[in-house]
Amino acid sequence: MLGRAVSRDSRVSPVDNLFSTDTRHLPVLLEEVVTALAPRAGATLVDATFGGGGYARALLARPIARLVAIDRDPAAVARARALAASEPRLLVLEGRFGDLERLLAEAGIARVDGIVADLGLSSDQLEDPSRGFSFQADGPLDMRMDGVGPTAADLLARLDERALADLFARLGDEPDARRIARAIVKRRARAPLVRTGELRALVAAVKGPRAARAHHDPATRVFQALRMAVNDEQGELERLLAASVRVLAPGGRLAIVSFHSGEDRLVKHWVESDGGRRVARSRHRPAPAREPAPRLVWQERGIVRPSAEELARNPRARSARLRVAIRTEAPAEEESEGAGRLRRAA
Ligand SMILES: C[S@@+](CC[C@H](N)C(=O)[O-])C[C@H]1O[C@@H](n2cnc3c(N)ncnc32)[C@H](O)[C@@H]1O
Repeated sequence: MLGRAVSRDSRVSPVDNLFSTDTRHLPVLLEEVVTALAPRAGATLVDATFGGGGYARALLARPIARLVAIDRDPAAVARARALAASEPRLLVLEGRFGDLERLLAEAGIARVDGIVADLGLSSDQLEDPSRGFSFQADGPLDMRMDGVGPTAADLLARLDERALADLFARLGDEPDARRIARAIVKRRARAPLVRTGELRALVAAVKGPRAARAHHDPATRVFQALRMAVNDEQGELERLLAASVRVLAPGGRLAIVSFHSGEDRLVKHWVESDGGRRVARSRHRPAPAREPAPRLVWQERGIVRPSAEELARNPRARSARLRVAIRTEAPAEEESEGAGRLRRAA
C-alpha cells in the first residue's frame, strides 16, 4: 500500500493515522512543507489542495486551532469531509483556490497564518481511467478536476491549429507542438478524438519510433498541456497568489509546491516583483519617489527539492519544487497619493 510505505519513517508526526488508506496519493515534500508553515498553537492554516489529505493530516497532528481544507474535486472533498467527521478543527470548503478570498469570507474567516498549495493532480485522479488524465489506461478525454466546463475532447474539437500548437508549446514545452496540432486537425476532419488512447496513439505516430524508446511516454507533454488548459491551472495560481497578500496575516507563510517550470516561474516572479508592483526599471521610466514596501519576502531564497530518499520512495516527486514566502506588515493595497491626502484632510 503506497501510504503505508511512508508512515514507517515519517518524522513529521508520531500519530498513527497520519496516512490514510482511502487514498493512493503519497504526499510530496511533506516534512519540508510542514516545517515551512511553522504550524504553531492557535494558528489558522489553509490547505488549498486537500487531495489525499496527506498535508492536512500532518498539520492536524500539530496544535493548530483550525485547518481550512479546499479542493475542487468532489472525490477529494468527500475524503476531507470523512476526516472532518472526527476532527472538529477541520473546515472543508469545496471550490477553487483561485476563489480563496471569497471562500474564506463566506466561512467568516478574514485572516489566516499560512497557506499551502500542492499544484497539479493527486495519484487518485491520475490513476482513475474514467477521469481521462492518464495515457496509461484508455478512458474518455475528460480531464476536468471538478466536472465543470469544456473537456479535453471539447478543446481538441474546437481550437484551431494555431491555438492547439500554442497550447502544447506554452503549457507543455512540447517541441513538436505544430506537427501534433496539424495531425489533430487532419484527424478530426474524419472523426473526433474522444479517448485518451486515441490521442496517445496520434502523438506517438507523429513523433515516430525514436520517441517511443525515450524515458517518458511521447504523449506526456501534450497530456499535461491539455490538463492545465482544461482546468485553467495558471489562472487559478495567479488568483491564489493575488489573494494570498490580502488574506495572510503579517508573518503568515505561503508555501507552493509546483511540478511545472511555468508555474514555478509564476510564483518566483510574483514574489520578486511583489505582485507586479515593482516593475522592471528602464531609463525611459523614472524611478518612483517611494518604492512600496514588499508584501511578501522569501523565507528561504531558492527552491526546496525532494531528498534522494524521498525520490527513491516516490518517483512522482521528481519534478517537485517548493517555494516559501512570508507575508510582511506592508498593507495589501498601496494607498494612492491622492487617497492618502484626502484621508489626511478629512
Ligand atoms: C497534488 S494533489 C494534493 C495532494 C495533497 N497535498 C496530499 O498530501 O494528499 C492536488 C489536489 O489539488 C486539487 N486542485 C488542483 N487545482 C485546484 C484548484 N484550482 N482549486 C482547488 N483544488 C485544486 C486537485 O483536485 C487535487 O486533489
